[in-house]
Amino acid sequence: MSSERANAALTAAGRRWADGADEGTRHVKSTFAGLDLGTGEFAEGVAQALVRVEDLLLTELSSGDEILTEAATHLAKAGGKRFRPMFAVLASHFGPEPEGHDVITAATVVEMIHLATLYHDDVMDDAPLRRGAMSANARWNNSIAILAGDFLFARASRLVSTLGPNSVRIIAETFAELVTGQMRETVGARGGDPVEHYLKVVWEKTGSLIAASGRFGAMASGADADRVEALSRIGDIVGVAFQVSDDIIDIASVTDDSGKTPGTDLREGVHTLPVLYALDGDGADSVRLRELLIDATTGEARPLTDDAEVDEALALLVASEGMDRARRRLAQMADDAHAELAQLPAGPARDAFTSLVNYTVDRVG
Ligand code: IPE
Ligand code: IPE
Ligand code: MG
Ligand code: MG
Repeated sequence: MSSERANAALTAAGRRWADGADEGTRHVKSTFAGLDLGTGEFAEGVAQALVRVEDLLLTELSSGDEILTEAATHLAKAGGKRFRPMFAVLASHFGPEPEGHDVITAATVVEMIHLATLYHDDVMDDAPLRRGAMSANARWNNSIAILAGDFLFARASRLVSTLGPNSVRIIAETFAELVTGQMRETVGARGGDPVEHYLKVVWEKTGSLIAASGRFGAMASGADADRVEALSRIGDIVGVAFQVSDDIIDIASVTDDSGKTPGTDLREGVHTLPVLYALDGDGADSVRLRELLIDATTGEARPLTDDAEVDEALALLVASEGMDRARRRLAQMADDAHAELAQLPAGPARDAFTSLVNYTVDRVG
């Protein structure tokens, strides 16, 4: 497929890719800001793989009774970065068969699992916006959003079965980890160390699936066991960093950039890393934040229901030392990821992973 056709297909599939002006110097850029895949065969290969993922995703989600498919395709069509399929496809380049159909299947399965969890997460978080569109719960209602999420899990399970029992087991374990993280977040730290609790939750709810994306992509392309483990480890680190950056964005962004509503975590009484660090300080801002965010009688997180309180808390947090501390922690995670990446063979796939790690850090601004 020529780069023109790859880009045309991506555009047709609703993806936004940009490219350079001249044939031969064309840089394929993904929809997530600035991720430059370079030029030539590798970039074309990745672009083509992602087009095939897009096709398979929509085919799988559209295959069912029409009473379900409108809600089930809603978020896939609304947008999204396709971070996990990209992760799987890049990982596949460390094995001998990155062009094989199993890679496309693996990359599609991880996006389907992710999508399913977004439907359920937006019900849990009562979130009105997702991917710049109305969330399914806001557009229809909670029951429809839950059932659409269930349908996505069912379709993901059907698809992963074509990769064999080992893959089914990996997805089942990953899904259990993810749900454990969502449960652990919901239940709260219960008197334990809150930062430790947070880091465990973010690995479970987000790191586990990104690690599985690396593992799956490498396995599907026939990579050897050491490589598969290395790509899974990189997924662990990048996945946690990705969630930390998402949590910073929940405080620092405007809706137009994230496609979500800032302050959603505070409204749910979920204290993320920048909040935990800001609450830990002894300045006047920390004192006021503790008043706003902690229930004085129980010592537990206090969900914010009042818009003025959300605005006040966000303003204090944006300017807090806690935000800087969270950014520094994120930068450390990126250094750890770069150190793991240095163990992989040099080449365009490693360069693309390096850009992806930099993107994860740079997107917090
Ligand atoms: C959102 O994931 C949920 C998190 C784990 C942070 P993404 O930021 O990858 O969301 P989409 O797929 O681009 O919508
Ligand atoms: C998302 O958690 C993680 C999963 C969907 C498993 P969040 O609630 O932190 O993510 P956003 O900010 O809504 O995307
Ligand atoms: Mg949420
Ligand atoms: Mg949530």
